[in-house]
Amino acid sequence: MQKGEFLYEGKAKRIYATDEAGVFWMEFKDDATAGNGQKRGTIGGKGRINAEITQHVFERLARGGVRTHLLRQESPTVLLVRKLDMFKLEVVVRNIAAGSLVKRIGLKEGIDLPQPIVELYLKDDALGDPLLNDDHVIALGLATEREMVEIKAAARKINDLLRAYFRTAGLLLVDFKLEFGKEDGQIVLGDEVTPDTCRFWDEKTREKLDKDRFRQDLGGVEEAYQEVLRRVVAQNA
Ligand code: TMP
Repeated sequence: MQKGEFLYEGKAKRIYATDEAGVFWMEFKDDATAGNGQKRGTIGGKGRINAEITQHVFERLARGGVRTHLLRQESPTVLLVRKLDMFKLEVVVRNIAAGSLVKRIGLKEGIDLPQPIVELYLKDDALGDPLLNDDHVIALGLATEREMVEIKAAARKINDLLRAYFRTAGLLLVDFKLEFGKEDGQIVLGDEVTPDTCRFWDEKTREKLDKDRFRQDLGGVEEAYQEVLRRVVAQNA
């Protein structure tokens, strides 16, 4: 597969066309940002680690019956994915109170939520990715009522699969963000599932093993990403 025209650069990935129609070249970068781009840095080896984690996780989800955009891993930092018509939404699922939920609602960090919470955010950096309710999604034409129901159901199913998957790796899946698109009228999971987009806590010590180490200047960022990859690989072995 040949890398083609440069299409788009996000905070953590670069997307290129390929010589095959409908197939994108998704290159993971070491760059890290937090606070909607206010804090910037690099995390050594992150591109390689996140490409590999996403490949393992998406393969597992596919085996669990979830449609994803992943075709295959092309090189250590590159995944080949199918082109999707993306929803301008970030879908967050929460199992344990942390992050913006704690700030917004005042729950204590670390409290187990009685049932998972699914939230939709507008994917718009200039607006700071605001939280939306279902009426906002319809008013903005971001998804239909039916698509929203399907997206939320897919997010809950993915949460069930991933919670169990990471639990066997000794990781609590605190919360995570997903992005979906459409292909032939079907809802398909896109983007990535990595320590950039999930909160993982060690099951026993509750040590943070994700991007919160970068966001909160806790140190040991690269080591935490490596540790998540090590556990994911060990589990798949
Ligand atoms: P939050 O607590 O900051 O709202 O984040 C919830 C989860 O979503 C957390 O695992 C980090 C992830 N996330 C992203 O991947 N990208 C983002 O832009 C935001 C705001 C959160």
